[in-house]
Amino acid sequence: MYTCMPLDRRQGVMDNMGEEAEAVSEGRGSLSDIRVLPLRARPELAPVLASWAYFEWSLAMRRNWSATLERYDPTRAEALPQTFVATVDDVPAGMASLRDRDSYDFLPGTTPWLCNVYVHPAMRRLGIAAALCQKLIGVAAEVGFAQIFLASSLKEGSLYHRIGFREVAVVEYFGPKYILELPIMIGSTGA
Ligand SMILES: CC(C)(COP(=O)(O)OP(=O)(O)OC[C@H]1O[C@@H](n2cnc3c(N)ncnc32)[C@H](O)[C@@H]1OP(=O)(O)O)[C@@H](O)C(=O)NCCC(=O)NCCS
Repeated sequence: MYTCMPLDRRQGVMDNMGEEAEAVSEGRGSLSDIRVLPLRARPELAPVLASWAYFEWSLAMRRNWSATLERYDPTRAEALPQTFVATVDDVPAGMASLRDRDSYDFLPGTTPWLCNVYVHPAMRRLGIAAALCQKLIGVAAEVGFAQIFLASSLKEGSLYHRIGFREVAVVEYFGPKYILELPIMIGSTGA
C-alpha cells in the first residue's frame, strides 16, 4: 500500500513518537531520518509551514500572508499554541498545531484543538500525519487536558477515526465539518 517508501521508514516515524519533544529522536537509520519536533527547535522553517497553511487554508478564508505567518511564530513558548514540524532527511515534510480553538469556533467552550494537520504531497501516506497527531495528543496529555478536539471534512474512515477520535457534532462551515473528540487517558504520554 505504501508504495513510495519502504515500510521501515513508516515504522521509524512511529518509533520517534516516544521521544521527548526537545530531545529530537533519530530515525531508524535505514533510508531516511524522520523526526517530529517543535517548531521552536527549527525556527527557520516557520515561513515554509506558513506557506503550506496559506495555500491550503488561508486563501479560502481570506487570511492574509502576514496573519498566517504570525500563526507560525517560532518564538512562542506557551502551552498553547504549539506547532510541531515533521522532517524527512532534514527536509520539512509536515506540520500540526495544538491551539486553544480552531480558526472557526466550532464548539464554543471546548479546548484544545488539533489544527492545521498538513503533509507535503510528496510525503503523504507514510504515516507522517498520524505521527504528528500522536505527538500532539501526547503534548495535550502532558499539559493536562482530558480530551482533544478537531474538525474534519470526512465523516468516517479518516486517520483521526483510526486513532480513536469520535464524532460529537456536525457544523456547516465550507461544507459539513465533523467535530471529533478523543478522550485522553490519564498518564498518556504520546509525546
Ligand atoms: C490529510 C493529510 C494530512 C494526511 O497526511 P499523511 O501523512 O498522508 O497521513 P498518514 O500517512 O498518517 O495517513 C494516511 C491516511 O490518512 C487518511 N486521510 C486522507 N486524507 C485525509 C483527510 N483529509 N483527513 C483525515 N484523514 C485523511 C487516509 O485514510 C489515509 O489512509 P490510507 O493511506 O490507508 O489511504 C494529508 O493528505 C494532507 O496534508 N492533506 C491536505 C491538508 C488536509 O486535508 N489536512 C487535514 C485537515 S483535517
